[in-house]
Amino acid sequence: MTDMNVKQNDFSGTDTSSPFSPQLSARMKRPDFQGDFTGMILSAAEKDDVISFAGGLPNPVSFPIQEFREAADRVLSENGAKALQYGDAMGYEPLREYLAERYRKQGIPVSSKEILITSGSQQALQLIGAAFLDDGSPILLEDPSYLAALQLFHYYAPSIHTVPLSEDGADRTEFARIIKEENPRFFYTVPNFQNPTGLTYSKQARMEIASILRGTNTLLIEDNPYGDLRFSGNAPISFASLLGTQCILLGSFSKTVSPGMRIGWLVCREKALLKRLLSYKQSCDIHSSLFCQMILHEYLSSHDLDTHITKITALYKQKAQWMISCMERFFPDGIHFTRPEGGMSLWVTLPDGMTAVDLADAALEKGVAIVAGDPFYEKRRKVSSFRLNYSNSSDAEIEQGIRILGDCIRKIMAH
Ligand SMILES: Cc1ncc(COP(=O)(O)O)c(C=O)c1O
Repeated sequence: MTDMNVKQNDFSGTDTSSPFSPQLSARMKRPDFQGDFTGMILSAAEKDDVISFAGGLPNPVSFPIQEFREAADRVLSENGAKALQYGDAMGYEPLREYLAERYRKQGIPVSSKEILITSGSQQALQLIGAAFLDDGSPILLEDPSYLAALQLFHYYAPSIHTVPLSEDGADRTEFARIIKEENPRFFYTVPNFQNPTGLTYSKQARMEIASILRGTNTLLIEDNPYGDLRFSGNAPISFASLLGTQCILLGSFSKTVSPGMRIGWLVCREKALLKRLLSYKQSCDIHSSLFCQMILHEYLSSHDLDTHITKITALYKQKAQWMISCMERFFPDGIHFTRPEGGMSLWVTLPDGMTAVDLADAALEKGVAIVAGDPFYEKRRKVSSFRLNYSNSSDAEIEQGIRILGDCIRKIMAH
């Protein structure tokens, strides 16, 4: 994989001369899927002299810092002993009720008893991996898919099947074939402003997929961290409404409030399954930080989340449009890119024969970081697509970075 030329966590002090040899599990001995790609992306994003379109980071101007300071103060002065104590493994009940109410307003009947607070939605994925996967278990993912989900599922050595993603959602013919032939344990999807492509499933695609799944034992995992970040139009129907208990919903405050709080959740309306997920979660971390949940809930109780989200979406919409207009100006003909209706990233495809890894290497030498598409695919390598994140760069950085990318593309094309 491309050398992103960035400093990683430094393990150089590890004593390699020690006679002690840890007896690792087969799981830990397996090479990490795609190496430490997530770490590399985050490190590239942190470097001061690099314009990074690589990390999927929210823009810190959207963080409600002062509001959180006041919320933390109120929690500590009014309820400090509770906030600093152990809590309920399901999560802080008022926060779960807040979430349930939000779902009900969207027409999805959810009760707080069906919501498990997790340490980011990444932990929800971990619980799902543990609950459903044995070595060789068939599962179905989008191609391309969210990199850290692929990485996580790989630890369980499942048999990963993929379905190509087109503009309006997963390819239905291929989807139906895999469901019939492989009977996967679950289908993992990010139907709104998908990471990495920015694509959203149409209503028609959702209905067709739900109808293929009905009557099978394949669960649909709807991961929806970006759904609230819609620039225009209305949200298409959720799979949760179409599939009832056959769907687990994942959500997160990472993109709407703060990723550092590490607060996400899952909605599971199958009681026995939720009980198992809860008991595994309890054995992992007892519960997610009650302190953070209480501060978050205090903030949500005294501020309108939708007003806050409106500000973020206005910012990201402007940035997406600016990046697209810069690509139209600086990219040569023959480059295809998605035009997301929300979210934080878009997906660019170079003409056939060009590889995004070459572009990523060349661009990094000129001080621009992008993520080549390879790690988002289970099998395909040297792909021609790459992801651009627009949420966390200034307009000037977007303009300069896209101009540099355009120059690099032209140079590669000329060879
Ligand atoms: C599709 C998707 N799912 C899950 C996550 C994990 O989010 P968190 O654990 O911060 O809630 C991300 C983060 O970028 C994501 O893009």
